[in-house]
Amino acid sequence: MYIIKYFLFFCASITIVNTEKRFYMKQVIILSRHNLRTPLSKYLEIMTPKTWPAWKEKSGYLTAKGALLEGYMGGFFSDWLKEESVLSSGCPAEDVFYAYANIKQRTIASAEAFVNRAFPNCNITIHYSSTVDPIFNPVIHNKTAAFKDYVIKEMKAHLKSLKLNDSYDLLGNILDYNHSKLCETNHQCNLKTDKNNIIVVPDEKPNLWGPIKIGNSVVDAFVMQYYEGFPINIVAWGYLYDQEQWGKIMPLSRGFHNVIFNTSLVAKDIAKPLIKYIADLCLGHNVAPKVTLLMGHDANMYTLLEGMGFKPYSLINQHELVPVGGKIVFQKWYDAVSRQNFLKINFIYQSMKQLRDSVPLSLSNPPQFELLELENCKVDSNGFCLWNVFEDFLKTLIQ
Ligand SMILES: *[C@@H]1O[C@H](CO)[C@@H](O)[C@H](O)[C@H]1NC(C)=O
Ligand SMILES: *[C@@H]1O[C@H](CO)[C@@H](O)[C@H](O)[C@H]1NC(C)=O
Ligand SMILES: *[C@@H]1O[C@H](CO)[C@@H](O)[C@H](O)[C@H]1NC(C)=O
Ligand SMILES: *[C@@H]1O[C@H](CO)[C@@H](O)[C@H](O)[C@H]1NC(C)=O
Ligand SMILES: *[C@@H]1O[C@H](CO)[C@@H](O)[C@H](O)[C@H]1NC(C)=O
Repeated sequence: MYIIKYFLFFCASITIVNTEKRFYMKQVIILSRHNLRTPLSKYLEIMTPKTWPAWKEKSGYLTAKGALLEGYMGGFFSDWLKEESVLSSGCPAEDVFYAYANIKQRTIASAEAFVNRAFPNCNITIHYSSTVDPIFNPVIHNKTAAFKDYVIKEMKAHLKSLKLNDSYDLLGNILDYNHSKLCETNHQCNLKTDKNNIIVVPDEKPNLWGPIKIGNSVVDAFVMQYYEGFPINIVAWGYLYDQEQWGKIMPLSRGFHNVIFNTSLVAKDIAKPLIKYIADLCLGHNVAPKVTLLMGHDANMYTLLEGMGFKPYSLINQHELVPVGGKIVFQKWYDAVSRQNFLKINFIYQSMKQLRDSVPLSLSNPPQFELLELENCKVDSNGFCLWNVFEDFLKTLIQ
């Protein structure tokens, strides 16, 4: 970012124009969701009599297109961070760029796709744990009965506040749900009135079973079909042909995530190890790399957003709140005028069209940027909040 200073020397009748850089990007932490993967649910077959379109990759794996799309992101970040002089040309050492992924295939492969395009032929190591990684594992840590009772109460209240009947009507039609195994064999035939069961168990991810879980699993499969580029008459068997239909079905996914992750106490509990990791990078407890890439899951991002108290946001040209390949990007900036450090946070993501159409990204054709704000760190008109305020807030989160 530049400001232009005009020095006017009226007595000499000349004008000197001096261009000087004001804001310097110092450090970046990228918390990312893996890119496009195949559908996850093992139960899709019993939710409909219809045949699901086949995928080349195993369930839950990054697809070849997902690797391409994440490569575009890597290329863009490399160009952007070089332009801001955070990175220089050539291969970065680990004190400059550090890549850390969850142990799953889709997260490791996403990180590889990112760095291969960002730093071609650089042999960057992707760090990951050899067993379940507590930093990325989105499970409940608090084992007390009081916590469980509180969480269940909150989740029930969230569930009750959802208005999903129109979404269920559309879902029932798309699936021909009355002829599914769940209806014919298990006699769960009414999406609008069948019960949602809340599952809260220590060391497990909070979960639901019932119509809203069915809705979330199915919508996830449709969204991935759309991004992967299946013909529009194949995506949801042709039912999601315009924005209005997408608008009607997406509340099932939003509602599901709201119930399981959008309670501050739950989110804080689940995200605590990840928030601590990020706080250590920001507070300089370890020698922090200039750029850190953390490749995880939507659960990591939902719980971090709620656990850190971000203000509600929406993403233009996207129906998902945390789309595949989406990134929460913490940036530390130095202001040469006020001589202070600032924090800026953006959600950087690919639009539905950029994902479906495999649109290459560049500085002149960037991904989407949305400014994010923390409740506890007020931003100015540039989107900056004071780094000191952010540091004090982080300390309260990890104590
Ligand atoms: C790449 O890095 C790994 C670990 O850092 C090292 O063992 C390997 O020899 C390197 N390969 C090349 C081609 O430099
Ligand atoms: C667990 O939850 C209970 C009830 O909300 C709370 O009082 C307690 O401090 C929590 N324990 C930890 C270790 O966070
Ligand atoms: C949704 O539909 C069910 C079944 O028709 C009905 O019992 C319920 O009151 C409806 N909910 C809302 C919020 O309209
Ligand atoms: C499916 O079954 C339910 C309950 O048995 C019924 O109310 C509903 O009308 C049926 N839906 C369709 C599309 O046939
Ligand atoms: C969490 O809930 C608030 C309202 O309680 C809502 O504004 C916000 O969008 C929700 N966040 C997510 C990620 O769904």
